[in-house]
Amino acid sequence: MISINNDVKKFLEATKQKNMKPTPRQEGKPAPPLEKKAEGERFTLPEGGLLMSDPHPLNQAIAERVSHRRYSDTPLELKELAYLLHVTQGVKKATSKATFRNVPSAGARHAFLTYLHVRNVVGLKPGIYRYHALDHELVLLNEGEKSGASLKEACYGQTMFDQHAVSFIWVADVERMYHVYGERGYRYLFLDAGHVCQNLYLACETIDSGTVAVAAYDDDKLNSLLKLDGDDFFAIYVAPVGKL
Ligand SMILES: Cc1cc2nc3c(=O)[nH]c(=O)nc-3n(C[C@H](O)[C@H](O)[C@H](O)COP(=O)(O)O)c2cc1C
Repeated sequence: MISINNDVKKFLEATKQKNMKPTPRQEGKPAPPLEKKAEGERFTLPEGGLLMSDPHPLNQAIAERVSHRRYSDTPLELKELAYLLHVTQGVKKATSKATFRNVPSAGARHAFLTYLHVRNVVGLKPGIYRYHALDHELVLLNEGEKSGASLKEACYGQTMFDQHAVSFIWVADVERMYHVYGERGYRYLFLDAGHVCQNLYLACETIDSGTVAVAAYDDDKLNSLLKLDGDDFFAIYVAPVGKL
């Protein structure tokens, strides 16, 4: 048997359904908003579903999917970025309590915020942005090229971060998940992140682009770059994207 750190064992035991305490929702606490908004200059995006009408066989995308770690200098078009945002986190339908998107999510919590590091996208200044999924718009948080070097450093110098057109950094908004599932919701955050990144992989195949899932990063450095506290909000998954 492998010797697992006791804290990990404790986490798995503590988050078994039978060990769950009443959740905030069961205690009647108010629900968190569907999406927490960022402050900054806003950019309207082209309709995200535009490229969805281009036929591309699903089986071909699945069969051709590989991790790409080298990209060309060709910039990503804004409509392509809008498409990638749409397939990963775009909102198809919203009610007062939930959103429905192109990816599944436990209890339709959709407890992610999408941050972008833009390096080479037509019409966008380099820098760090937040995607407002409900409004399908970008908010510029930190303009400038310097954040690219910090992202690369946070990801242990992986060379994709010199070449990417844009990097997706999905951030867990813990309160949204915790409200309904309590501590078991931590498991669901990590499961949900996988669906999001897989859609990015497949969609990249349809626009002559590539991506690679990245989980090797320094949590503290990445959270600090995005000004996240690391508790209520933390970076959960990263994916650089570029044209091939
Ligand atoms: C959870 C997860 C974390 C990963 N982290 C990294 C990473 O930090 N750097 C990297 O170059 N590739 C990373 N990868 C990509 C894998 O190395 C890649 O999927 C694997 O080698 C299989 O290759 P393929 O995707 O081309 O089929 C990660 C993949 C997953 C699913």
